[in-house]
Amino acid sequence: MNKPKLKAYEYHAVFCCGNKCVESGERTLFNHLRNRLMVLGMDTVRVNRAGCLGVCEGGPIMVVYPGGYWYCGLDAAAIDRIIENHFRHGEAVEELLFHKGGERFGGDRRG
Ligand code: FES
Repeated sequence: MNKPKLKAYEYHAVFCCGNKCVESGERTLFNHLRNRLMVLGMDTVRVNRAGCLGVCEGGPIMVVYPGGYWYCGLDAAAIDRIIENHFRHGEAVEELLFHKGGERFGGDRRG
């Protein structure tokens, strides 16, 4: 079997594109993040869209790996902060988090 090759990346950001998150503006933010990363030359962040992530409130929802950092209530300013703090300096934006790995960061976790 020929195994596929994948460009190395440091972070994987996954946007929920379930109905509730799309209604909250997910597509605009997905495009904003991709465009900002391209302009900034930050090609070590991989960005994808996924189906409903099972939260369905407080969206748009985005989860960042490694670490499983779950962000909620995103807007363009929040995305810019995540780019600068999390992706550039490795420091999650805690006030935008509602869940991390097995920890809680306030608010109720569904599931
Ligand atoms: S619609 Fe986004 S978590 Fe379900």
